[in-house]
Amino acid sequence: MTRTVYVNGEYLPETEAKVSIFDRGFLMADAVYEVTSVLGGKLIDFEGHAVRLKRSLDELEMAEPCSKEELLEIHRKLVELNGIDEGLVYLQVSRGSDGDRDFVFPSEDTKPTLVLFTQNKPGLADSPAAKKGAKIISIEDIRWGRRDIKTVQLLYPSMGKMMAKKAGADDAWMIEDGHVTEGTSNNAYFVKDGVIVTRPLSNDILHGITRKAVLRMAEEAQLKVEERLFTIEEAKAADEAFTTSASAFVMPVVEIDGVALGDGTPGPIAKRLREIYLEESMKEAI
Ligand code: PDD
Repeated sequence: MTRTVYVNGEYLPETEAKVSIFDRGFLMADAVYEVTSVLGGKLIDFEGHAVRLKRSLDELEMAEPCSKEELLEIHRKLVELNGIDEGLVYLQVSRGSDGDRDFVFPSEDTKPTLVLFTQNKPGLADSPAAKKGAKIISIEDIRWGRRDIKTVQLLYPSMGKMMAKKAGADDAWMIEDGHVTEGTSNNAYFVKDGVIVTRPLSNDILHGITRKAVLRMAEEAQLKVEERLFTIEEAKAADEAFTTSASAFVMPVVEIDGVALGDGTPGPIAKRLREIYLEESMKEAI
């Protein structure tokens, strides 16, 4: 089925959607994005994604393409037009183009480019991958220093996923100065003696929307959470581990660099947090 996508005010078949070859998103990765999940035809934590999008735009002095209310309407319309029950809405805003290539930002009246499309993912909540758990490898983190801004500079994360695939694993966690930063497209956690450990927020990692919700839910469920730097050795010696993201919710990790965690199956805390997250976030979906 041909998807209906959104480009700068128009709903179009995907085959007819066009963006300029001079667009700075294409030429310079001068663009930010958000991925919002859809469960039961409704958006999970739209508000969180809208707030982070505004922050990313502000940090890069990029204009807002439209209001939050309009963004919500576009998300909802695309979900409806494409009949999405479970899946994702991808949104990208770039600084646009004034018709040429130049390192200097274009003038302020240049319109940002706004693109949205849906991805149909039946079985996203009841995922076989989550039942099995993920195997991860560790790789060096060589990304730029503003990982708190959700830019489309995804070449290294993409290479990281390929390194994992070649090693027979599912994903990679990145390490900088001896400490784990995050996964290629998710935040990273381990659990030892009942305590959930994850890296604190800073410019070194993306401020995950799922992370925020899961940490709140963990505390409400009386689980102990420690936000601190940690090494891959600590994670390998953990009872269990997991990642969080809008596209995979809470994903148990069962192996790190070939070392099985616990009995090599998804741990009880990761499984419980996944259940709580799905249940709670669906209640508040819009
Ligand atoms: N990735 N860290 C990185 C580097 C990410 O790319 C993501 C999300 C996260 C988790 O953030 P959130 O919980 O807000 O999804 C952490 C999205 C899903 C992606 O690139 O597809």
